[in-house]
Amino acid sequence: MGKGFFINKTVGIVGIVLAAGAIATIIALSVVYSQEKSKNNENEVKPTGAVTTPVPTTEPSNEPWDQWRLPQTLSPQTYNVTLWPRLQPDATGLYIFRGLSSVVFRCVEKTNLILIHSNKLNMTLQPTLTALGSKPAPIIESIVMHTKTQYMAIHLKDELTAGESYELYTEFVGELADDLGGFYRSEYYENGVKKVVATTQMQATDARKAFPCFDEPAMKAVFHITLYHDPATVALSNGVVIDKVNITVDDTFVTRTTFAPTEVMSTYLLAFIVSDFGFIEQNIDKLQIRIFARQEAINAGQGEYALSVTGTILKFFEDYYNVPYPLPKSDQIALPDFNAGAMENWGLITYRETALLYDEEISSNGNKERIVTIIAHELAHQWFGNLVTIRWWNDLWLNEGFASYVEYLGADKAEPTWNIKDLIVLNDVHRVFAIDALASSHPLSSKEEEIQRPEQISEVFDTISYSKGASVLRMLSDFLTETVFTQGLQTYLDHFKFNNTVYTDLWEHLQRAVDSSTSTPPRSVQDIMDRWVLQMGFPVVTINTETGQITQEHFLLDPETKPDSGLYQFHGQRKKQHNPYIGCCRKLVSFKMTVTIMFDTTGLTMIMKTGNAYLMFSRLPDSIPVINRAQIIDDAFNLAKAGIIETTLALRTTLFLASETEYMPWESALDNLDYFYLMFDRTEVYGPMQTYVGNKVEGLFDYFTRLTNWENLPPGHTDQYNQVNALRVACSTGLEACTTLVKTWFEQWMENPNVNPIKANLRSAVYCSAIAAGGEKEWNFAWEMFEKATVASEKDKLRAAMACATEPWLLNRYLKYTLDSNKIRKQDATSTIISIASNVVGQPLAWDFVRANWEYIFKQYGGGSFSFSNLINGITKRFSTEFELQQVCDLPQNCFIFF
Ligand SMILES: *[C@@H]1O[C@H](CO)[C@@H](O)[C@H](O)[C@H]1NC(C)=O
Ligand SMILES: *[C@@H]1O[C@H](CO)[C@@H](O)[C@H](O)[C@H]1NC(C)=O
Ligand SMILES: *[C@@H]1O[C@H](CO)[C@@H](O)[C@H](O)[C@H]1NC(C)=O
Ligand SMILES: *[C@@H]1O[C@H](CO)[C@@H](O)[C@H](O)[C@H]1NC(C)=O
Ligand SMILES: [Zn+2]
Repeated sequence: MGKGFFINKTVGIVGIVLAAGAIATIIALSVVYSQEKSKNNENEVKPTGAVTTPVPTTEPSNEPWDQWRLPQTLSPQTYNVTLWPRLQPDATGLYIFRGLSSVVFRCVEKTNLILIHSNKLNMTLQPTLTALGSKPAPIIESIVMHTKTQYMAIHLKDELTAGESYELYTEFVGELADDLGGFYRSEYYENGVKKVVATTQMQATDARKAFPCFDEPAMKAVFHITLYHDPATVALSNGVVIDKVNITVDDTFVTRTTFAPTEVMSTYLLAFIVSDFGFIEQNIDKLQIRIFARQEAINAGQGEYALSVTGTILKFFEDYYNVPYPLPKSDQIALPDFNAGAMENWGLITYRETALLYDEEISSNGNKERIVTIIAHELAHQWFGNLVTIRWWNDLWLNEGFASYVEYLGADKAEPTWNIKDLIVLNDVHRVFAIDALASSHPLSSKEEEIQRPEQISEVFDTISYSKGASVLRMLSDFLTETVFTQGLQTYLDHFKFNNTVYTDLWEHLQRAVDSSTSTPPRSVQDIMDRWVLQMGFPVVTINTETGQITQEHFLLDPETKPDSGLYQFHGQRKKQHNPYIGCCRKLVSFKMTVTIMFDTTGLTMIMKTGNAYLMFSRLPDSIPVINRAQIIDDAFNLAKAGIIETTLALRTTLFLASETEYMPWESALDNLDYFYLMFDRTEVYGPMQTYVGNKVEGLFDYFTRLTNWENLPPGHTDQYNQVNALRVACSTGLEACTTLVKTWFEQWMENPNVNPIKANLRSAVYCSAIAAGGEKEWNFAWEMFEKATVASEKDKLRAAMACATEPWLLNRYLKYTLDSNKIRKQDATSTIISIASNVVGQPLAWDFVRANWEYIFKQYGGGSFSFSNLINGITKRFSTEFELQQVCDLPQNCFIFF
């Protein structure tokens, strides 16, 4: 039966007597739960994941420059771009870059208008137009900058001729701001000296902030890049360096670095970086692999882990895609300021430091896992995304979902002992179930015309695109079989290389692979996948074991909230279809298999009740595979939240935790209990809940004490995570053995700050509970260590732990620090505020703080950006009453942007 859902009708009941106390607590808990819930009923605000922006009701005009999409009249062929970023401020204190660019484009359809993207660039010379064919170029009549739609519109006296090529030349200046978008600057200190890096983040629509360009993913072209920079710095871009000379320009002695022309590619994948970073390298066959970072980090060996896995993963993807890596080099660079986790720029991948740099002594195994999976994700894009690119952003889910699925395959190759492929169930499948079960969710696929404006584009970078995309592609690969899936994938990549696609192009190639194989799904790939791609949500499936009848319904956490678009809308028609291919989907584990899950009175045998039949699952000895144990818990809690089963039943699935030592079921339970904590840690339920969870975790804590004495690492990768969970939960529920341990370690460290006695994996948990138990002294010590830390992941651990303080004034002071980028980097401001809000003491403080500083925060993170909606969702997670909802709606900006 492999990985499928394990059903065994004949298993006997294992009778072990359960302490009556636990049952009593559960019943007490669920009684108070239902009281609280009914108090709050009607008014409940569900944590939202999906963010939408209403489509404007009035279209301003039909002029091409008022449209968000480029007309199809011109097609770029090559660009020559020269940029000169200044790493010192000018006389007015501004950091700038100068640039010149020429673009050769073909006229596809005659027109007297050149529309090209340009945002926040000041032209320093009148742009010029030259014809490359026999006829002269039309004269430029006027040039208008459209700031809203981010175009430079060049109006011509006569028309351009279809089939002819032209060259447009521009000179411009832009600000090298610290705004994390386009061509921007990042700053850090090394040996007390301030260093500035010029770097880029183009995706999705910020290449136009670096130079005028046709900034759409299907407007692929060849780019010749040249950078001017201080001779003491190194310049990087997508291509390899082909020329490097010292010259004097404007009385300044600079190095001019010229890069080999790129392959035909999209603007959003360009990258230009000037820094004085160090690097390490490795050559595999003829391929050059380099890791760049701050000198100090490179010297400390923090790039070694990334370098050691990159070659393996690249080789794996070459095989998987059956296409050689398309470029002669692969650079990866860690930047002190970076908004996303990483960006797959072709040949020059950029990362947040914590996503690339690893320190054997200081980083945890979680940090390591993040690094290897994110590297695999970005390397996967070098083919899927970069070589073959989606035509428009509405299909982003295919690009991101695919990379989010195969990142597990790549990481598994590099770390074969970790069982990392299982973790997709917790990290993506469960994660997205929680969001996709809300009425506010949305389908994977959007129409091209629904995703137009830059803020709409940034909204599609959400959990649905990444995690649901990954989940359904994993399911597809599983039911087609890996062989058929990769075969279709390979012909797809080969056919569309250097070109653009829509997601159905992949279905077509998969279908061809199916047709030429022996595997015969009952319906076409498209037919099966339409149900997952065009509809939001997922089904709850009920199996009547007497009649064998299987029925399904749209699963909604709150059954009262029918989505506006109607239940289960399918191509505009209400269809309650039978799932065509039930057996196929076992790997997605998406089916909420049965409606009722309960324990018998011993609490140790699970009885799945469907109709009149009982299917029995013996829990011991471990006959339910670990993934499914995790799944049952998650299902039970979700079914309870949706009112399909009693909360008591859901809580009962946690009874067996007292004897559970595997990570996945524990993590699933803790994730689900978190929701109870969020809703009830301000109520009288909190006490009994702490006692109950504390009792359950005591066994796990003792298990790890016996196994490791808190000195050693448990053997398995996920066991190490579970060791952390044991410590974290034992301490947070006040288990004395735990709090004493943690306090002792932290005191030892405070006595001798140069020697941190706390094991790397345990640090987050230890710091948090020590700071929670401590006062100003502990907090200030943590701050001092934060400022001193040279490993980014260590900084992150301390930054999160400082939010665990319980004294309001400490938390208020910390909140203020987030407004000062010298204290908390802009990239980290929202996540710090969210950490503070996740602390029950900090939540109201963070909420007041955000409201009091709304102007500033909205300006910094607003405009529909992902990080802003994260912030609002993060702070309001605990909200559950009408009163609280009203507060959200009283925000100065229209709250409907976010909900
Ligand atoms: C772009 O640069 C390349 C190499 O420097 C040169 O051969 C080519 O003529 C330039 N093209 C344009 C349009 O300026
Ligand atoms: C561009 O022009 C605007 C308006 O004159 C000015 O405020 C801005 O500072 C200029 N930007 C640069 C980088 O010079
Ligand atoms: C450019 O000048 C720097 C500093 O004087 C020197 O180190 C470097 O070797 C020179 N590079 C070239 C290509 O001449
Ligand atoms: C790109 O794909 C389109 C549609 O499949 C095709 O018409 C076009 O010729 C392709 N372009 C290139 C450069 O291969
Ligand atoms: Zn990605």
